[in-house]
Amino acid sequence: MTPRLAGSLPEEMYLGQYIPIHYHYNMLQDRARTGGFRAAIEHVTPVGGRVLELGGGTGVLSWFAAQKAEKVWCVERNPALVRAARQFLDGNPRGEHVEVVQADARGYLPPEPVDVVICEMLHVAMVREKQLEVLAGFRENYLAEFGPPLPIFVPDVTLLAVQPVEQSFCFEGYRAEVPLFVAPGAQGLGQPLAEPCAYATIDYASDIPKRFDWRGEFVLEHDGMVNALAFLTRNFLAFVYSENRAIDWMMNQLVLPLAEPLHGRAGDPISVSFGYEAGCSLETLQESLVVHSLAETVPLRRAA
Ligand SMILES: C[S@@+](CC[C@H](N)C(=O)[O-])C[C@H]1O[C@@H](n2cnc3c(N)ncnc32)[C@H](O)[C@@H]1O
Repeated sequence: MTPRLAGSLPEEMYLGQYIPIHYHYNMLQDRARTGGFRAAIEHVTPVGGRVLELGGGTGVLSWFAAQKAEKVWCVERNPALVRAARQFLDGNPRGEHVEVVQADARGYLPPEPVDVVICEMLHVAMVREKQLEVLAGFRENYLAEFGPPLPIFVPDVTLLAVQPVEQSFCFEGYRAEVPLFVAPGAQGLGQPLAEPCAYATIDYASDIPKRFDWRGEFVLEHDGMVNALAFLTRNFLAFVYSENRAIDWMMNQLVLPLAEPLHGRAGDPISVSFGYEAGCSLETLQESLVVHSLAETVPLRRAA
């Protein structure tokens, strides 16, 4: 049985809204993330252009934009990070093209239209962080203030998928069913029991969803214990149409243990459903997960 770990922290202290500086160092060192953003920002930023970053942290993504842009607004709410970003930017070439603004990104508009908007308030499965709330609000406010066209968004599109897995929750002999974050292809990742299925495509220039309600069916490809669902999040940071490719960032998988695991055999159909608001806690998503075997309801297939 998976224990409920519902948080008692106030919203402002919740990771995602408040990210301590040492965690920013981890993010800076994540080459798949930081390198992907660098390539995408270089690709979409026009020389002499105007760029807005929402949730600027240490200022690194704004600095990438400043290598080509004339003016970058870097909006960050945490005062300690605002100070850190200003200090780091002052030590890097063209850092003076970035204005660090201490403000809540929800509701912030730049003083004039921009060519590009960067927002990395991303969390796997779009839980915890406010990417969708911030960009939905921005899109509406921007169109009301400046009218079309909308700027280019980095990321451009995010794809969400889910997959049933058999995951070990054993740590040096100690069993603990806790949510795991596992790098794509890493050793700790469990056995996938079926191909992933996409449950949402978020196009930041179109209507942005506020919640995800999904029900789907998988046919198991292997015998195994379905004891977790893996959530996959792939960000298409920019599309390079001239070369027919995308610059993307596959985030670590979120593996959520199921309260009621089930044994399945290859060929068994199972149903999976969940429902959650974007930006909600991990626990809210976890508690909404329902997995059923449909095997008994298809006797003809079993007989065959
Ligand atoms: C995942 S970090 C990314 C930081 C930076 N863009 C980078 O890529 O390294 C998200 C940042 O958004 C900031 N943030 C969270 N909520 C915010 C809000 N409502 N307004 C402004 N900044 C916010 C956090 O303090 C954090 O620095």
